[in-house]
Amino acid sequence: MGKLTTMLRRRPANPAMDPGIVLGALASAVLVVDHADTIQYVNGAAEQLFQAGSSYLCGHPITDLLPPDSPVMSLIAQARDNALMVSEHGIVLDTPRTGHRTVSAQAAPIGETPGHVALSLHEQSIALKIGGSLASRNAARSVTAMAAMLAHEVKNPLSGIRGAAQLLESAASEDDRVLTRLIIDEADRIVALVDRMEVFSDKPTVERASINIHQVLEHVRRLAENGFARHVRIVENYDPSLPPISGNRDELIQVFLNLVKNAAEAVPDEGGEIVIATAYQHGIRLAVPGSDARRHLPLVVSIQDNGPGIPEDLRSHMFDAFVTTKPSGTGLGLPLVAKIVGEHGGIVEFDSMPRRTLFRVMLPMVQEGDEFS
Ligand SMILES: Nc1ncnc2c1ncn2[C@@H]1O[C@H](COP(=O)(O)OP(=O)(O)OP(=O)(O)O)[C@@H](O)[C@H]1O
Ligand SMILES: [Mg+2]
Repeated sequence: MGKLTTMLRRRPANPAMDPGIVLGALASAVLVVDHADTIQYVNGAAEQLFQAGSSYLCGHPITDLLPPDSPVMSLIAQARDNALMVSEHGIVLDTPRTGHRTVSAQAAPIGETPGHVALSLHEQSIALKIGGSLASRNAARSVTAMAAMLAHEVKNPLSGIRGAAQLLESAASEDDRVLTRLIIDEADRIVALVDRMEVFSDKPTVERASINIHQVLEHVRRLAENGFARHVRIVENYDPSLPPISGNRDELIQVFLNLVKNAAEAVPDEGGEIVIATAYQHGIRLAVPGSDARRHLPLVVSIQDNGPGIPEDLRSHMFDAFVTTKPSGTGLGLPLVAKIVGEHGGIVEFDSMPRRTLFRVMLPMVQEGDEFS
């Protein structure tokens, strides 16, 4: 948005690159409102979103389009009052003009014209992004019940089956022993799978401490470089001034290990590269589902790879259990990531295109009143 306002101001070097043309080409809806919330500008995507032409919209108060209690309105007010860009994910628009859709919104003050705010709205398609990560929490919850059931109903009988096969083995002929071995090996494989599921079952609250995220990432990088990511170049791009987060070290290692492992499995054999970056972001807040509360998630860790990208048909199920495209994958990596990040009060989202897939984990920082044992 900062770039956008600069662009509006600057005379384009190439006359064909008139800012109006550029804004018209954007898929995001862009609107400018003045100090009284009267619409002063809309681009093509905003016309489409609100089902009305620029000549109608400009001059009308934005409250004709959105209810006064819409989170978008408070975002505009915040940007104006604090002279700061603010954004918010997961805003539900439900108006006669827009229909029901979920958007992320950014509001930025326009420096030259006090009181004016530029607003951009991006639709979050197919429950992707934040929606996807929230949906993933539900998915993780249903896995929780299943994990408990599996441990109980599958593991116990399996140990009986395994024991019986072992007994048979001692009296079996050489040929039959191949079969008893098969039973034992398969039983072991299922137990291993159920064990992996067990991390999903509800366990007593884990201990939290003040965690330096860079120490976690360093540990993950070392594990990766000496194991599954030996063939991959790992680039680090850290903001060393990040504050600590309140979390569980082991669980956070699991999160980033899974993300880096997926990245390493996606990159090409030659020239594979993973970029691990951390940053502090201002003004990003997440609507807490089912309440008016907003959470500030200033710490962002991103894991980027130059693999082929996530197949289109997979994107809306990425965080569901057992979704895998790998011959020996379990499809439990990302559900686990979503579960742990959710329990840390954070969110995970992704962006993917060929040669650039990015998983972003946003986490809250340690707050006053957090207590550690
Ligand atoms: N960085 C990535 N690039 C492309 N596809 C990805 C990436 N990360 C995940 N995926 C896709 O998402 C699917 C699910 O990932 P997830 O980690 O949940 O399971 P998995 O990696 O297949 O199995 P496991 O984690 O048990 O080894 C993967 O099979 C893959 O198709
Ligand atoms: Mg995985």
